Amino acid sequence: MATGIATAKLILCGEHAVVYGEPAISVPFSQAIVKTDVTEATETSFSSAFFEGSLDEMPAFLAGIKEITEQILRRMGDKKVMINVMSDVPIGRGLGSSAAVAASIVRGLYVYFKQPLTEKELLHWVNQSEKIAHGKPSGVDAVTVVTGKPVWFEKDKSLELIHFNQKAHFVVADTGVPSETRSAVLDVGHLLQNDPQLYQPMIIKLGDISREIKKYFETNLDVAQVGLLMTEAQKLLEKLTVSDASLEKLIRTALENGAAGAKLTGGGRGGCIISLVENQESARKVADALQRGGAARVWIFTIGEDNQ
Ligand code: PMV
Repeated sequence: MATGIATAKLILCGEHAVVYGEPAISVPFSQAIVKTDVTEATETSFSSAFFEGSLDEMPAFLAGIKEITEQILRRMGDKKVMINVMSDVPIGRGLGSSAAVAASIVRGLYVYFKQPLTEKELLHWVNQSEKIAHGKPSGVDAVTVVTGKPVWFEKDKSLELIHFNQKAHFVVADTGVPSETRSAVLDVGHLLQNDPQLYQPMIIKLGDISREIKKYFETNLDVAQVGLLMTEAQKLLEKLTVSDASLEKLIRTALENGAAGAKLTGGGRGGCIISLVENQESARKVADALQRGGAARVWIFTIGEDNQ
């Protein structure tokens, strides 16, 4: 048996704007992991919480995974394997589940076939799967999942890693509502096309917010200021129509219970929120409030210094 592992991702800021060349900050979300076991079999089959059966029977939402798995197996001499995916990344919640599942399968297959796998090759496979699944992704999910490091991502530019100078404490909460990344991305495109004078400055402002937040993370983390910037980004995302009532309810709860700032993370229209808090004590208070306020799942998440 061989095993491949990948972690989910969290976009701290810059989602949607990143599609138009503005920067985003994205970090590996180590609390949510995908593990894939690959074992010998007489027929190639797939097992997971979301689908069980042969590759031919895979549903449309797994078309990207199906395509890259078939291509890899063909390269490896059409050998038959059982692929068992175990994931604690909720699907379609803006946490990069599809990229993490793809990366863990590719890693598992390469280990099983005893083939070396470079980061560049893995990125190629994950990007291919993501393109089939999501149309025209910016690539931020794939890069974060493949590198497993905090990234400063700008489309078509060389990758820059971010070093967090101090610990930053976050609380992440799932609305329980599937995120509609694809329609949200398409609708932002329509807004920009129909009224560029109104919407283009919002995209640029979101980029400026990412640039400011980066400075704070890399130097002195002023939690209050970064929180305000995150909430400002949320207001812009609302104007871009990618937020919704389920997200805004959790954002309000986080802010009312002491979070310095809160915003949606990922595609929006459902999915997850991310809030910045001062310390672990505040994190627990916000997490409890979110849980009581109806979040489907809540995670306390720390990044910086010793975990990067
Ligand atoms: O796949 P999600 O929901 O994590 O969203 C990705 C972030 C977007 O900026 C909305 C889309 C993209 O391709 O970058």
